[in-house]
Amino acid sequence: MLESSSVPLFIVFVLLFILLLSVVLIRRNGTAALIWNEIIREKITNFIMNQSKEQRILNFVLQNAVRGDPCSVMDAIDKYCSQKEWAMNVGNEKGLILDKTVEEINPSVALELGTYCGYSAVRIARLLKAGARLLTVEFNPEFAAIAKQMIEFAGVQDKVKLIEGPSEEIIPQLKKKYEVDTLDFVFLDHWKDRYTPDTILLQVSLHNLVTAPRPVTHCSANPR
Ligand SMILES: C[S@@+](CC[C@H](N)C(=O)[O-])C[C@H]1O[C@@H](n2cnc3c(N)ncnc32)[C@H](O)[C@@H]1O
Repeated sequence: MLESSSVPLFIVFVLLFILLLSVVLIRRNGTAALIWNEIIREKITNFIMNQSKEQRILNFVLQNAVRGDPCSVMDAIDKYCSQKEWAMNVGNEKGLILDKTVEEINPSVALELGTYCGYSAVRIARLLKAGARLLTVEFNPEFAAIAKQMIEFAGVQDKVKLIEGPSEEIIPQLKKKYEVDTLDFVFLDHWKDRYTPDTILLQVSLHNLVTAPRPVTHCSANPR
């Protein structure tokens, strides 16, 4: 039996042991690291700073990028997300593949499903020829608000139409409400379980869907 005076000491010892165990687990186990970084640490930081990670990304861009320079916006997001907090942007590595595809297809009308903070929208829009447009769809209102500011700061707002709502509701409206007859390029980057149903929905909603049928998906090794 423990003496009553040694109970607090025992509790401190147990807590220290749990802390040590957690640190070892986070350092050695990818899933534990992900849970810590993406769920626990992010929630604690959000609570302490009273703002979301996406707001912090935007603030970093506003303070470190050059207004009207899309590349500096992309660089600032890449820097923040590689050095400070991971985020689900397509990133520079896969972004280069995206760039190549956009340049190859040279679309007049492009569609992106899944805007998040607007990183890939800025990335695609900066490559569009004069008169071309990108429609980008995001169902999370907080992300959509951040993306709108990001797109405006990057100076590509004239080329990008941000549509707020779930893809499954927006796609059937593309033809009438958004005057889309043909899509030359589609970037599927929303939740994976919508890739197939939304591709089918696009084919049904727009009979002459993609001039070169080549939807691009953002298949990532990163857990989302
Ligand atoms: C991987 S992120 C997009 C990243 C972004 N394309 C980039 O690279 O900067 C996926 C986004 O899709 C959005 N999303 C998921 N399912 C959606 C749906 N059915 N309709 C609209 N947005 C959706 C999520 O809220 C999230 O912001």
